[in-house]
Amino acid sequence: MKFRDSRKGEKETVVRLFVSVFSDSEGKEEGKLLGQLARELFESSNETDLFNFVAEIDGQIVGSIFFSRMVFENEDAAFILAPIAVHSEHQGKGIGQGLIKYGLGEFKACGVTFVITYGNPKFYEKLGFRAISSEDVKPPFELSQPEGWLGLSLDGRPIESLLGNSSCVKALSNPVHW
Ligand SMILES: CC(C)(COP(=O)(O)OP(=O)(O)OC[C@H]1O[C@@H](n2cnc3c(N)ncnc32)[C@H](O)[C@@H]1OP(=O)(O)O)[C@@H](O)C(=O)NCCC(=O)NCCS
Repeated sequence: MKFRDSRKGEKETVVRLFVSVFSDSEGKEEGKLLGQLARELFESSNETDLFNFVAEIDGQIVGSIFFSRMVFENEDAAFILAPIAVHSEHQGKGIGQGLIKYGLGEFKACGVTFVITYGNPKFYEKLGFRAISSEDVKPPFELSQPEGWLGLSLDGRPIESLLGNSSCVKALSNPVHW
């Protein structure tokens, strides 16, 4: 197993992975939506605002994760982890946690302090994420599941240092994702 940055020519493979994983787990419509999100993240984000990592086994991409920049009113920045997918036949083998740990390691190395995610607390709490209040750290859109709003500080500064309204990349600037 190898974790690495995705390469330019791998966009379609990563998009197909998201379509297939989310179609299997949540139905065809969700698969289409997440495939579209992956495509838009690649096509509409500035290079410095987006990280996409993949997990590879025997030359095949079996998992992928996106992190994109969020900016707060006090000009502090964070990266939001969303979405992540592990091929249905390879789930439950530590690949998802491995991808997240790999991403966090890369961020630590380049001085990113805050990482946010929006998902299942049971999964992300294993990796050190903690529930955050959407009043303290404001999401760019109203959350349909506020219990899934989670954050992690990589240098001990409280995540509540992220002040005021926030904005996210264009691909995530759609209430359907929140
Ligand atoms: C969620 C997902 C990324 C996890 O990756 P994975 O490689 O299967 O997970 P790992 O093997 O690294 O971790 C497994 C652990 O997470 C837990 N876990 C896995 N998926 C979970 C989920 N959807 N909800 C809660 N816990 C989950 C397992 O219980 C397991 O816990 P354990 O280590 O204590 O036994 C993967 O299952 C997936 O792609 N699911 C479909 C798409 C999805 O739901 N993506 C997340 C929303 S963006």
